[in-house]
Amino acid sequence: MPELYHALYHSQSLVPDTPSVHNEILTVSQRNNSVAGISGFLHREGDFFLQYLEGPKTLLFSTLARIGRDPRHKNFEIIESGTARTRMLPDWQMGFTDPSQLRISDLLHVSENQLQINALDPFDIVTLLVNNSHGLRSSVAA
Ligand SMILES: Cc1cc2nc3c(=O)[nH]c(=O)nc-3n(C[C@H](O)[C@H](O)[C@H](O)COP(=O)(O)O)c2cc1C
Repeated sequence: MPELYHALYHSQSLVPDTPSVHNEILTVSQRNNSVAGISGFLHREGDFFLQYLEGPKTLLFSTLARIGRDPRHKNFEIIESGTARTRMLPDWQMGFTDPSQLRISDLLHVSENQLQINALDPFDIVTLLVNNSHGLRSSVAA
């Protein structure tokens, strides 16, 4: 059994906040991630992307490297990674949330354009999103 890993990163979007932009990312992600055995979610809030991924270590890091080179975002920063005992989102090759499900800025009491995940709280947010995974969507209605 390959070692199970997880990672959480944030980045700044360079593409408009529209369903077609997100559906394009989701379709490719779901296809690639199901082949690689990767699951997770992508959250977008303003220009802030937050993505959580879990899967076999080597494939997870090659996927992260590919995502990090994607010109649709910048300031890509992994804020947490490590081994995982079990998957938190086994059934989500890539789920999507936006402020219609959850406003992280409200939770952290900051304005949307000041969103930053501090070193101490990323997994609180993952746990929160996972606990609300009924709010995850596999595509966005236009
Ligand atoms: C915010 C964001 C999240 C992404 N997430 C994933 C992902 O989870 N899995 C994936 O394979 N590609 C993801 N992508 C797309 C990759 O950067 C890349 O375009 C894609 O993997 C290339 O796949 P292809 O070679 O099959 O066309 C993401 C892109 C962005 C901008």
